Amino acid sequence: MPTRTDVAIVGAGPAGLLLAHLLQREGIGVVVLEAKSREYLETSPHRIRAGVMEWGTREILVQAGLGEGLLQNGYEHQGIYLAHAGELHRIDFPSLAEGWRIWVYGQQYQVRDMIARFLEEGGEILFEHEVVGLADLTTAPKVRYRTPEGQEGELEAMFVVGADGSHSRARSFVPGLLLKQTTYPFAWLGILAETAPAAEELIYASHERGFALFSMRSPNLARNYLQVSPEENPDDWPEERIWEELNLRLGGVARVEPGPLLEKSLTPHRAFVAEPMQYGRFFLVGDAAHVVPPTGAKGMNLAVADAVALFQALWAFYKKGEEEGLRRYTQTCLDHVWQGEFFSYWMTHLLHAQPDPFQEGLRRAHLAQVLSSEALKRFLAENYTGRRTTGRWVRSLA
Ligand code: DHB
Repeated sequence: MPTRTDVAIVGAGPAGLLLAHLLQREGIGVVVLEAKSREYLETSPHRIRAGVMEWGTREILVQAGLGEGLLQNGYEHQGIYLAHAGELHRIDFPSLAEGWRIWVYGQQYQVRDMIARFLEEGGEILFEHEVVGLADLTTAPKVRYRTPEGQEGELEAMFVVGADGSHSRARSFVPGLLLKQTTYPFAWLGILAETAPAAEELIYASHERGFALFSMRSPNLARNYLQVSPEENPDDWPEERIWEELNLRLGGVARVEPGPLLEKSLTPHRAFVAEPMQYGRFFLVGDAAHVVPPTGAKGMNLAVADAVALFQALWAFYKKGEEEGLRRYTQTCLDHVWQGEFFSYWMTHLLHAQPDPFQEGLRRAHLAQVLSSEALKRFLAENYTGRRTTGRWVRSLA
């Protein structure tokens, strides 16, 4: 059992694994502690997350040497469709966002790839190790954990990283963090089904009955979502009702053929930002630091941007003795974090039917503007592909 390392990372998700891999490549010591089992992370349907990578996220993963799976099994998309009032409107990314586009590859697959790669290269992940306390974070940090056998242990580290998701256990041991949060009166009922996707690219459908999203994992695996109330019970949605509702909300622009359901789950929308994202020698990355509503699929992209930002600050510390990057970590990240929050908020409100008739009137006016304005389509494309926001992190890695 390791008792000492340079950087202890709590959580084996996209942010934690990318950071761990980048540090290890530079010869900086790292240990990852993960509360769940490897099998759970790789196969549990509860772990299914979005499947859209910004072009910059794809580039970062490829440059880091973590792109083999995504390049082999993912798909380039050059645009998305907005569906409204029985018409399809295409947003063409390359022409609107200076060549930027997106890559479709499930987050869960990417996590599986990164675990395999990190372990192959001799990395250490303590699976089923639950963090039960953090101590001395401003001086000589210690991570207290419980093993799967129920024994307690302690890991000393120069730095500790909380990368353990929105319900972060690590975050709960850190004083002085303020959660700025809001609520959204929406939830998504999501399904993964063995059937052809509705179209060759994603369709975001605005409909008076509620928003619907038509995504995919492959040419025969469709990933679809329906806007429902956060109080909705998924059991009230038998398969036939889901397919009927999906096709109704498509408004005739395309059709989805029913196929066997592999998963069904309810995701209430929420959003928060933890500020600051650091305390002493402790740093937050990814969902542990901030959560966005799912519209626009920004979550993993923000997590990757945080991981690169923290990697660069730690690299400067270990290789050049500079502390300024670490001191400024929160400030560095809050720019892309709030841009991500803003775009997710914007796209959510653009597309989700509002219970309040006045709000719904505003929303439709907003949508009419977007569908008829080159400038607003450009805004959408630049943010969706990440060109204007997280994009700068690709350039910084090169
Ligand atoms: C997916 C999820 C999203 O939130 C989104 O905006 C696009 C795609 C997905 O799961 O494929």
